[in-house]
Amino acid sequence: MNLENIKNLADNNLMPTYAHFPVSIEKGSGATFIDSEGNEVIDFGSGIGVNSLGYNNEGWIKAVTEQLLKVQHTSNLYYNSTVAEYAQMLTEKTGFNRVFLCNSGAEANECAIKLARKYSFDKYGENRHNIITLVNSFHGRTMATITATGQEHYHRFFNPFVQGFKYCQSGNTEEFLEMADESVCAIILEIVQGEGGVVPTDFGFLKTVEKVCNEKDILLIIDEVQTGMGRTGKLFAYEYAEIKPDVVTTAKGIGNGLPMGACLSTEKCANVLTAGAHGTTFGGNPVACAGAKYVLNTLTDDFLNEVTEKGEYIRKKLLEIEEVKSISGLGMMLGIELKTKNAGEIAKKCSENGLLILTAKNKLRMLPPLVITKEEIHKGIEILKGFLEAKQ
Ligand SMILES: Cc1ncc(COP(=O)(O)O)c(C=O)c1O
Repeated sequence: MNLENIKNLADNNLMPTYAHFPVSIEKGSGATFIDSEGNEVIDFGSGIGVNSLGYNNEGWIKAVTEQLLKVQHTSNLYYNSTVAEYAQMLTEKTGFNRVFLCNSGAEANECAIKLARKYSFDKYGENRHNIITLVNSFHGRTMATITATGQEHYHRFFNPFVQGFKYCQSGNTEEFLEMADESVCAIILEIVQGEGGVVPTDFGFLKTVEKVCNEKDILLIIDEVQTGMGRTGKLFAYEYAEIKPDVVTTAKGIGNGLPMGACLSTEKCANVLTAGAHGTTFGGNPVACAGAKYVLNTLTDDFLNEVTEKGEYIRKKLLEIEEVKSISGLGMMLGIELKTKNAGEIAKKCSENGLLILTAKNKLRMLPPLVITKEEIHKGIEILKGFLEAKQ
């Protein structure tokens, strides 16, 4: 099928929730795929930070297919060895006590929100349900997570929204101290605001937040849906800030493309969500867990160091381009601010000419597969550079 046919089928049948780029991804290897027209395309987006081990990763495919040949789904009413092993690996490697496995970032955040409110309800009773989130954050598309998202334009059309969220300016310690009163049970924040434009949160602010949370028994929830699982060169980006959250949520790269999310908790709140209080039909699916196990085993210190090194290399190469004003982000999560050109137009031109690159607010955004090679980086940057340096 050619692009025109695919486009017609998709546009006439899918709800129009996405403005698709004019490219159809058909098969791939590493950070390169072949589109419906047979063209080779370099992928600097990895499906918005999901295909962390790239396309057609042999070890991951073996792990997933081996599980598929055994059992595809069990329901969380029953045990399964792959799920049990993965949960153990994940808690051990991250240093958390318990995990709830789900299917997406929004679900992981829903779990964290419910956990925070019940933790507080169990311990302090009613009226301590407020959750602080940061202005310009993004936490998902469900009713609670869209409300938690600190961006006005998401707070339209779907009234009434969920109650009990307060929005604090990122980095504004004074405002946070004022907001963190006895009605607050938790704060949720990203270490680097991804959808918000690849904007890092100030580490000094994070230290103060951690201290106040500890003093007031407010749960510190870090949303590592985009930053987690090696994306920034650490397993979790909060490690850079040297803080220890009570709850961490993660998704995207966790399963290398199979739907998976996780909400991890320390011992303090490990037993808050008891039988009947929360659940999921598909979450913690054995096939997704088999893939996620392979991903987690791949994220060794050497692998993470390479992510950091490649991230620095990309940063250096991009800064050599005259049109590039600044680079933000950590590891291989990069925002590219341009001097004069429109990021959306550049991303579209690239997608028509052999390169997928994302945008976030007014920036270009890179979330390449963590396994991208130097050669693929070069090829992609050459295409990007061509459009950034073009006269018009
Ligand atoms: C920081 C953050 N949280 C939550 C989400 C929502 O994740 P999902 O789309 O898997 O529900 C995203 C998605 O972009 C995200 O970047």
